[in-house]
Amino acid sequence: MTGGAGYIGSHTCVALLQAGYEILVVDNLSNSKKESLLRVEAITGKKVPWVQADVRNRGKMRELFSAHPVEGVIHFAGLKAVGESVEKPLRYYDANVAGSMALAEVMQEFGVRLLVFSSSATVYGDPAMLPIREDFPVGATTNPYGRSKLMVEQIYTDLAVSDKAWQIALLRYFNPVGAHGSGLIGEDPSDIPNNLMPYISQVAVGRRERLTVFGNDYPTVDGTGVRDYIHVMDLAEGHVKALAWLQNHTGAHVFNLGTGRGYSVLEVVKAFETASGRPVPYRFSPRRAGDVAAVYADAMKAEQELKWKASRGIEAMCRDAWNWQQQNPMGYPD
Ligand code: NAD
Ligand code: UD1
Repeated sequence: MTGGAGYIGSHTCVALLQAGYEILVVDNLSNSKKESLLRVEAITGKKVPWVQADVRNRGKMRELFSAHPVEGVIHFAGLKAVGESVEKPLRYYDANVAGSMALAEVMQEFGVRLLVFSSSATVYGDPAMLPIREDFPVGATTNPYGRSKLMVEQIYTDLAVSDKAWQIALLRYFNPVGAHGSGLIGEDPSDIPNNLMPYISQVAVGRRERLTVFGNDYPTVDGTGVRDYIHVMDLAEGHVKALAWLQNHTGAHVFNLGTGRGYSVLEVVKAFETASGRPVPYRFSPRRAGDVAAVYADAMKAEQELKWKASRGIEAMCRDAWNWQQQNPMGYPD
């Protein structure tokens, strides 16, 4: 698992260990702390072998593939801050595109052909219709981060055409939120959060004064942006299902991982206030550049093929995000 110490990776570690998989985490800790893996050990009662390394370091990656009997890779490692990607495009293309290429090259050398990739609903841009199906057009992405995800999807798809032995799942995540029910692991933004749920949590816990709601003039239920929030443990379980499904499928396959239901910013604020019992003061500001009105998945393909369906609702997402935030108001210790 590349990037296995990160937010989605650490939750997927729990799901994989609980499903009986043996894992090896490779992470350069550029956006995470090793404490997350110690917490995974506390939750599961199992050791988490891990190595601090960069996926772009082919020499180091070769060493790892030589030393361990790797059967498949889940590739989470990458950079994900949209705004930063506009300012530092080369850094993003290097980490996300060059990193994904280096990984695939080394996998190919070692005859490992099973790969699950973290893509994003951002590849759809502003959808012409809702809910979004996997066969909708992609490419109208508004920033280097989104384009890097699309490029990797295309590279991996070409790879699967060139060599029929590849077994690749391109998972387009909608908006992952929440935390493991134990409150031991969760999302730990190193800076001011860009995303809605961690921002709301920090307001509720008193770290920030109020939420800024970006736009109240969208053509949505209450004028605020609508997204398909998905509990991170549902998402983690989606990876376990995708791995199992890939055992019997070659080629590159795209799946939406979302719930199929959208919530507005104000609906999330309300759900969070209910879950936490704390007020979440907010004020409106103009729309954020690059944002779209509404994004939610048609999640039927994953349900039919992977036999996976998100089961946790907005209440559980807010409750678990709050539980993590309360237990770890400043995130993981150093
Ligand atoms: P995260 O930053 O918490 O996790 C990414 C992990 O990768 C971190 O632990 C980081 O240290 C590591 N990493 C980064 N570059 C690396 C490199 N070159 N070599 C080795 N390790 C490296 O992010 P996350 O939210 O867990 O996201 C995981 C993946 O899912 C990312 O690829 C992200 O783009 C994608 N994704 C995330 C979201 C989201 O909202 N969180 C949505 C869609 C897609
Ligand atoms: C953002 C990224 C997207 C990425 C995804 C990963 C942008 C433009 N898009 O998606 O590329 O794949 O994160 O999680 O950054 N909001 C507020 N106030 C805030 C924060 C957010 O009102 O402080 C609103 C947004 O306008 C949006 C909704 O909340 O309507 C969700 O925002 P966010 O959590 O940032 O996710 P996305 O914008 O969907």
